[in-house]
Amino acid sequence: MGGTLRFTAQIVLCLVLAVFSSPFVSRLIAQDTRFHNAPVSSRQQKNPYAGQTAALSAGARLYALNCRSCHGINGKGSGNVPPLSRGAVQAAPDGEIFWFITKGSVDNGMPSWASLSEQKRWQIVSYVKSLKNARPAKTDAAPPSSTASPTHAPAPAPAFTDFRFEQPGKFHKITVQDLPAPFATHSASNGPDLVARPSNAWPKAPEGFSVQQYATGLENPRALRTAPNGDVFLAESSSGAIKVFRGITSDGKAQQSDTFASGLNQPYGIAFYPPGNNPQWVYIGNVDSVVRYPYRTGSLKAGGPAQHIADLPHAEGHWTRDIQFSPDGKKMFVSVGSASNVDDPDTTPEEKNRADILEFTPDGSGMRVYASGIRNPGGGIAIDPKTGELWCSVNERDGLGDNLVPDYITHVQDGGFYGWPWWYIGAHQDPRHKGKHPELKEKAIVPDVLLQPHNASLEITFYAGPQFPADYQGDIFASEHGSWNRSVRSGYEVIRVPLHQQGRASGEYEDFLTGFVLDNGNVWGRPVGVTVAQDGSLLVSDDGSNSIWRVSYTGAGSQKTAQQHGSKGPTSKDAHN
Ligand code: HEC
Repeated sequence: MGGTLRFTAQIVLCLVLAVFSSPFVSRLIAQDTRFHNAPVSSRQQKNPYAGQTAALSAGARLYALNCRSCHGINGKGSGNVPPLSRGAVQAAPDGEIFWFITKGSVDNGMPSWASLSEQKRWQIVSYVKSLKNARPAKTDAAPPSSTASPTHAPAPAPAFTDFRFEQPGKFHKITVQDLPAPFATHSASNGPDLVARPSNAWPKAPEGFSVQQYATGLENPRALRTAPNGDVFLAESSSGAIKVFRGITSDGKAQQSDTFASGLNQPYGIAFYPPGNNPQWVYIGNVDSVVRYPYRTGSLKAGGPAQHIADLPHAEGHWTRDIQFSPDGKKMFVSVGSASNVDDPDTTPEEKNRADILEFTPDGSGMRVYASGIRNPGGGIAIDPKTGELWCSVNERDGLGDNLVPDYITHVQDGGFYGWPWWYIGAHQDPRHKGKHPELKEKAIVPDVLLQPHNASLEITFYAGPQFPADYQGDIFASEHGSWNRSVRSGYEVIRVPLHQQGRASGEYEDFLTGFVLDNGNVWGRPVGVTVAQDGSLLVSDDGSNSIWRVSYTGAGSQKTAQQHGSKGPTSKDAHN
C-alpha cells in the first residue's frame, strides 16, 4: 500500500471506483464525495494558478506564516490538528479545499482565512497539494515560526506548568478549584516545530534511571504492547504495519525485529486474546474496524490473514482506536474518540458512538456503550492488573484558553458519563453549549487525575515489572504527546501517576521522562506509546524522532523521589517552583 497505489487511485478514481476494495481506497472515496460537506458548486471552481511555480513558492511562504504553527512542517499535522500531506485533503478537488479554508471550522479550532485575498488562498491550495506524501525535513533545524513557544513568557499560574518547568521528579496536582474561567486567555495556535534531535539532546529521567535508544528508523511509531512472552509489539500507524521486537543487546537495543502484519488501515491498539500466558489471537484497532490475527506464542509473523471482528465509526476526526479485554476475557473494550472538537452529538450524526468506550464480546457482537462523554480516549486504555479496573487517558477539548480543559487519566465506571461536549470536569458547562442538557450536570464525573490542559495524553500502562524501586509498583506511566493549543507548550514527556499501592490515584502526577523540547521551544521528540518490557525497563515510542526509548533503573538515586512523594504531597502552590 505505497504511494503508487494512492496516486493511481486518485487519478482513476472516477473511472474505476468499483475495482478498488481496499479499506484505504474506500475511505478516500467516502471523503472524496464530501470534503467537510463542501457544496457541489465549490468542486467546479478551478485553481487559476494550478501548475505555476511562482504560485507554489508564494504558497509556501503563506503556509509558513499562517498554517505551519498548527499543521506542522510539510503539513505533517501536530497534536490534534490533522495532516494536510495525506488523507482527505489530498483526495479533494482544489475548489473544495479553497472553500473549506475560506470558511474554516471555527468551533473546531480551524480559523477562517477569508481575510486573505483569493489569490493567496489559491496559492496556499497549490502548495498544500504539493505536500502529497511529503516527509518532514529532519535534516536541518527549521526556523522558529512566528508563534514558537515564547521562552520569555511569565511563569505559569500555580497548579499549571509548561515545558520550561517540567523536570523529572517534579510533582503536579490540578484540582477543580484551580480551573480558570473559559476564554481567560486566548486560544493559541502553537503546534510544534519539529527538528532533528541535536546530538547533545537526550531524554531525561529521574536520578537512578538511565535512558537508551532501543530502536530507530521507524515510520510513525505509535502504540506499544508487550506480549506475555516478552516480545514487544508496535503499531506503525501511517505505514499500516505491526512490528515486533525481541531480546535486548548489551547497549539496550532490540536483538531481533520483524513485521508481524502489514496492509492495515491506520492501526493503533494491540491486544492479546485470551488474557493469560497463552494467547491465540492478536487483535488490532484500525481506524474503521477491529481485526484479529491467529497467533502462537513466539511467532514473529501472523499465523494467517486478518479476520474482521467489528466495524467502528470513523468518518472524520480522532483516528486512534485502542483495545483491551476484561481480565475474565468476556468483554472487549474499544476506545473511539470524537469526530470533532465540540460538535453536538444531538445534531451531528458523525458523532454517533464516538467519544465513547464501546464494549463488545471478543467475537465482535453485542456492542454497547460502556462509558460516554469521553472526548478522545483513543490514545490509551489499560486494565489495572491489581484491581481489574479499566482506566483511560483522554484528550479534552480545545479553544477555551491555555488552562482549559485539563486532559485526564481516570478509572472508568460502567455507564459513566464524563461530560463531553456539554459539560467538562464535572458540573462546568461548555460555553459553546450554554443551556443544553441541564439534567446531565450532576451526572458528569470528575476524573481522577487532571493533567495539564492540551497535553495530548496518549498511551498508559501499569508498572508491574521486576526492576523499578518498590514504590513504583502498580503506578501508571503515560505518554504526553504535547500541546498545540497552548501559548507555551506543555506535555512532550512521560509522566508517572502514583496509585500508592492501593490502585487509587490521589490527583497528583510526576514528570518522569522529559527533554524532548529544546530551550528555544523547538521540539525533536513526541512520546506516544509506553509499555513495560519483560526485564522491567520502560519502553517509550516517539513519533517525533521515529524511535523507541528504553528507560531502566540502574542506581539507588530514586530514593529521593520516593521520600519526597511519601513525606509531603506537593500542594498546587509549589507545583512548579
Ligand atoms: C489555530 C490552528 C490552525 C491554523 C493556524 C490552521 N489550521 Fe487548518 N485546521 C485546524 C484544525 C484544528 C482543523 C480540524 C478542523 C475540523 O476537524 O473541523 C483544521 C483543518 C484543516 C483542513 C481540513 C483537513 C482535513 O483533513 O479535514 C484544511 C485543508 C486546513 N485545515 C488547511 C489550513 C490552511 C491552508 C491553513 C493556513 C492558511 C490552516 N489550515 C491554518 C487548525 C488550524
